[in-house]
Amino acid sequence: MVIAVDGPAAAGKGTLARRLAESLGLPYLDTGLLYRAVGRRLLDQGADPADPVRAEAAARALRPEDLRRADLRGPAADHAASAVAALPAVRAALLDWQRDFGRAHGAVLDGRDIGTVVFPEAPVKLFVTASDEERARRRWLELRGRGVAAELAEVLAELRARDARDAGRAAAPMRPAGDALLLDTTALDAEAAFAAAWSLVRGKL
Ligand code: C5P
Repeated sequence: MVIAVDGPAAAGKGTLARRLAESLGLPYLDTGLLYRAVGRRLLDQGADPADPVRAEAAARALRPEDLRRADLRGPAADHAASAVAALPAVRAALLDWQRDFGRAHGAVLDGRDIGTVVFPEAPVKLFVTASDEERARRRWLELRGRGVAAELAEVLAELRARDARDAGRAAAPMRPAGDALLLDTTALDAEAAFAAAWSLVRGKL
């Protein structure tokens, strides 16, 4: 059993996917962490995250412990992740990783292309969205909670730019699969979003 949860940044898909996994007794993989860890490796090297040769090498060398690094979040890591994510060689290098994870025991995976590319045959696919303003507000609160000062307008502009890159790239662009169930969490808190997702998922099982 594989459940695909896709959508733009800060739509609430990570929280939802984690809770769905817990409720169903399935492993959970936040696939954004793979791209973040690769981007981080290039930043550490002082390299350009859009460098295809170095980025592919970093993707092929990725180890599970790299996903546990504490410095995978924040504006620089966001930007580096979406830069490496536009490179077809990086995506190809990470594909087996994600498929092996899902096939081992079933899983809930969240990302941008799980329902379209990684597991197009997944029986349950959710595409989670929320308005740009609400997503920016959530990300801003999260940053503030971590003690990072940021301007709301700047967070909104960065989210929009990243979504545009993720949806506009040629390699596995972010988009809902034809058979994805759409869930708009703009007016929902985490509890209500989970209840809505749970009833959508139960309807498919
Ligand atoms: O989900 P998260 O915001 O952590 O993802 C970071 C970046 O990784 C995204 O902006 C996107 O560029 C990339 N990504 C992707 N495909 C996935 C998951 C993440 O391209 N399945």
